Amino acid sequence: MCDKIEGEGHQKHVFVSHTNPVTGKIDWIVQDENYDYIQEIARSGYGDMLHDTDRNQKYYKAIRQAIKLLRERNKEVNVLDIGTGTGLLSMMAAESGADTVTACEAFLPMAKCAKNVMEANNFGSKVKLIPKRSTNVRLDDMEQRANLLVTELFDTELIGEGAIASYTDAHLRLMEEDCVAVPTTGIMYVQAVQSELLRSWNSLQPVQLSDRVSITAGPRFSSCSGAPSLHDLQVDELAGKLKLLSAPVEVFRFDFSHRNALAKNEESLVQTLALQDGNIDAFLMWWDLIMDPQGEIILSCAPCWVRGKGEKIPWRDHWMQALYYPTNRLSIQKGNMFDVYSHHDEYSLWFETEPSGNHRPVCTDGLHVAFSRTRLGQINSKKRNQVFIDAIKEHVTEDSVCLVVSDGSLLPLMAAGLGAKQVFYIDMNRPCCRIIEGIIEHNGLQDKICILDKRPEDIIAEDLFNLKIDLVLAEPFSQAAHLPWEHLYFWYALNSIRSQLCPNVKILPESMTVKSMAVQFRDLHKIRAPVGFCEGFDISEFDKLIESSSASADEEIEPQCLWEYPCQALSPPAPLAFVDFSQPVESTPKLHQTTELECCREGVLNGVVFWTEFSFGEESFLSNGLLDDKWQEDKVKWDMFSRQGVKLMRQGRSIGPDSKISISTQFIPEVGDFTFTIK
Ligand SMILES: C[S@@+](CC[C@H](N)C(=O)[O-])C[C@H]1O[C@@H](n2cnc3c(N)ncnc32)[C@H](O)[C@@H]1O
Repeated sequence: MCDKIEGEGHQKHVFVSHTNPVTGKIDWIVQDENYDYIQEIARSGYGDMLHDTDRNQKYYKAIRQAIKLLRERNKEVNVLDIGTGTGLLSMMAAESGADTVTACEAFLPMAKCAKNVMEANNFGSKVKLIPKRSTNVRLDDMEQRANLLVTELFDTELIGEGAIASYTDAHLRLMEEDCVAVPTTGIMYVQAVQSELLRSWNSLQPVQLSDRVSITAGPRFSSCSGAPSLHDLQVDELAGKLKLLSAPVEVFRFDFSHRNALAKNEESLVQTLALQDGNIDAFLMWWDLIMDPQGEIILSCAPCWVRGKGEKIPWRDHWMQALYYPTNRLSIQKGNMFDVYSHHDEYSLWFETEPSGNHRPVCTDGLHVAFSRTRLGQINSKKRNQVFIDAIKEHVTEDSVCLVVSDGSLLPLMAAGLGAKQVFYIDMNRPCCRIIEGIIEHNGLQDKICILDKRPEDIIAEDLFNLKIDLVLAEPFSQAAHLPWEHLYFWYALNSIRSQLCPNVKILPESMTVKSMAVQFRDLHKIRAPVGFCEGFDISEFDKLIESSSASADEEIEPQCLWEYPCQALSPPAPLAFVDFSQPVESTPKLHQTTELECCREGVLNGVVFWTEFSFGEESFLSNGLLDDKWQEDKVKWDMFSRQGVKLMRQGRSIGPDSKISISTQFIPEVGDFTFTIK
């Protein structure tokens, strides 16, 4: 960072250096000095959680039940709400007749927001707010030990936000021994599943180039249990793609009501019946909460196939389901029993098919550190690889000298395997490049593929053995890109080595079209929509905080994996911009044009989706957005191996078949910058 500069009003701005993902150059951008802080607020899951009516209603009901129980025991009700957020659960407790309510919140902007929300609802004097982490709250901050503990400290893994430590400490120092807790218990379930799709998200699959030639990853990549990061997703959207090998089995029970009841480390072994023949690719995990001391109210994150017939399934993005890949892909037979070994430490979980150590497995092959799940799925996609194989077959000859520019790509192996004389490879991501290097060696292609360990601007003729490039290939994929049109690094790299290209060089992809469509999301829009009232409490102070944070922090268009979020098209897809890669960057004119999306249906416009299509020949293209021309159907099909760009509207807009949505597109080739303005 360098100098601070005065912004409008009282805001201070700073210059921040960042690598432009498109051009690969270092840019300086102007940012609010509290950008990270503001971004944390804008992107926090509070909004989505407050839209979760099922959660809110069950908490409210359980709090009432707990207070009733304490009253029946002739007790005063003194509540401690750990992690109050907007103050919602404290207001519920106060409204339900608690004698005292103490709330604490570790995230200071939220503590400030909770104060405003409580004052707006006239609870300012009824709830004592302590802007501290519970572990820093002293007993003299409170009037007395509490006897009702109300908390919502859970993430998709239940314990990932440190619930075990917070509960253990609170029970010991801040709660009476015979207290009541809401929720009282967490129950964790797993189900064994087989799925080709899940395999493709976790390991490298062979690529068949022809009847006789294939690319394989080699033994180094065959027995790693995978990524250090959680694989959480909206699993209901995978319903038809999973073979369920077992019924759900309970693996852990977390008791939130009693002192010393939560262990930091635990393991369990559950013998489980195989319902079908198959191989265990993954364990699917979710949890339920028993909310009230009477055990009548259950808050569940179970997938749709586990729910009762006709049960209304709540949608939520703040808690999903998670997948865990066992080290050993056990083969099981219907009717036989198999073992599920479950482990947790203070923050994380792991599941195995055989006994393992007490430490969470780490990625041993480097693959899962270098590649995201989405990217692994992408390079395993047979359909996508076939587009590359067909294009290479069409253009490669035994004299071809190819240059591949992409991060962590199998394209150099495809070009070499399909007969190119020499392949040069530029990969700007070192960890990805090391993986590809290993695969090149495993396939014995190191004589044909030369990795250029240099920035394109430093490459000289000798690096290319004084050969001229006649075929350039890019997926295109750049690890630094977030949005679909940011994968253009290869085009900028070519600028630096244009003198090494043959005059009639073939560049693939030939072009990029940015496309867009107006949609109505079933649920996704809720993550950015204002909350207003929540169970009768006015939360608009929180909406104001999010609105002001979003205005200064958020990008207009955010990346999302849209296959997880059902939506209906309100307009046909329309092209917004076209870039011809046969033209150098500097001869490509600036683009400024307006496109009208013509609506074809009545509905509520709550999102506009953006994606790109790359052309590899007349009839051959790769879309990282819409997958087919059946966009009129009830659910639009999106590419599962890319993130699309989406502008979510904070307020939905009713539209009819004659409505038009105008999008103004600007592209400045020099800096690789696309902007889209929706009216
Ligand atoms: C999932 S939110 C729940 C907010 C609110 N209770 C609700 O239900 O709407 C969890 C909140 O707890 C806070 N938090 C987590 N651990 C905490 C702790 N040990 N002490 C205080 N706050 C904590 C987080 O900053 C976050 O605001």
